[in-house]
Amino acid sequence: MSAAVGIALTGSGAATPARVVTNDELSLWLDTSDAWIRSRTGIAERRIATVEDSLESLSSQAAQQALERAGWRPDQVDLILLATSSPDDLFGSAPAVQAALGANNAVAFDLTAACSGFLFALITAAQYIRSGTCQRVLVVGADLLSRWVDWQDRRTCVLFGDGAGAVAMEVAPEGWDGLLTMVMRTDGRRRSCLAMARQATSQVLHDQLQAGLGGFRPISMDGQEVYKFAVQQVPLVLTQALKQAGITAEQLDWLLLHQANERILASVAQRLGIPAAKVLSNLENYGNTSAATIPLMLHEAVMAQRIRSGHLIASSGFGAGLSWGAALLRWGRPDAP
Ligand code: ACO
Repeated sequence: MSAAVGIALTGSGAATPARVVTNDELSLWLDTSDAWIRSRTGIAERRIATVEDSLESLSSQAAQQALERAGWRPDQVDLILLATSSPDDLFGSAPAVQAALGANNAVAFDLTAACSGFLFALITAAQYIRSGTCQRVLVVGADLLSRWVDWQDRRTCVLFGDGAGAVAMEVAPEGWDGLLTMVMRTDGRRRSCLAMARQATSQVLHDQLQAGLGGFRPISMDGQEVYKFAVQQVPLVLTQALKQAGITAEQLDWLLLHQANERILASVAQRLGIPAAKVLSNLENYGNTSAATIPLMLHEAVMAQRIRSGHLIASSGFGAGLSWGAALLRWGRPDAP
């Protein structure tokens, strides 16, 4: 039996809308305060998409950067996976990214798993590479949840922001693997904890026929249930991923969690015995950008040369579904600095 194909994570990119909205600005119309939001979540400001922004344009910018940093030509990309719950087009926004990049040989489609979306897409992309189906894949995580929150609901709207991030993933040189282990979970029985469900409205076509009408309700969330779920389940999947790889928490360079709430990050790190200095966080500046949080944080850390080639990263995504998962990643490739 031939050895399994290894994965290399060789480029990253990110893009966010220009408009910054601070906690104080939210207090202009909401009964909230900077002190409440900071102390409960760690968030100080977030980026909000205006009508001129689009998910497809931010995703394309992030993907273009990842492609350039990996040193690929657009025609070398085999697959573009776009993790999003807020596409510009419900038929899929990935084809628009493919067209913007001129990646004409790539197949492109969307994958929806809310805040777990990027991690699930990364794991999915790895299967295409390991099976020999694809050589080079762009994995994008992007969401504009500002379009889907109820801006009068202070319990949810203060948490979210908009953004996009991307990672380039390719066949690794022999002896290298950038995806050591992975764990994925879904508990659909608890899906109502966090939802952006269909709005049940209808249109009368004739007196014997009423068809449904497309539309969604704003995000609804049971914050305390989601919080409890995250602090219970995320340490378990991370522990399982570490155990599968035979790696201890002390050997990790970074903990890269879905950026939902600073208190969740601290609690998970504490449960695993990982010091705060190894916990990557940019919640303060962006809030929860859903499928974009992990690649956005990753890109910032790579650009700041905090994450370097060979670094070992434990990552976990969690959110609506309920869905959650973990992966143990090794950034870069052996010939990179
Ligand atoms: N400003 C001021 N007061 C507020 C606000 C606000 N923005 N929001 C809620 N409050 C009030 C409540 O009304 C309540 O007041 P009351 O006691 O008079 O009724 C009080 O603050 C406490 O509310 P709680 O909901 O108990 O606050 P809690 O400490 O649980 O924090 C929070 C709420 C921050 C939402 C927390 O539960 C949390 O972070 N949960 C996880 C949510 C999450 O991460 N979701 C995203 C998952 S990822 C995905 O898939 C999209």
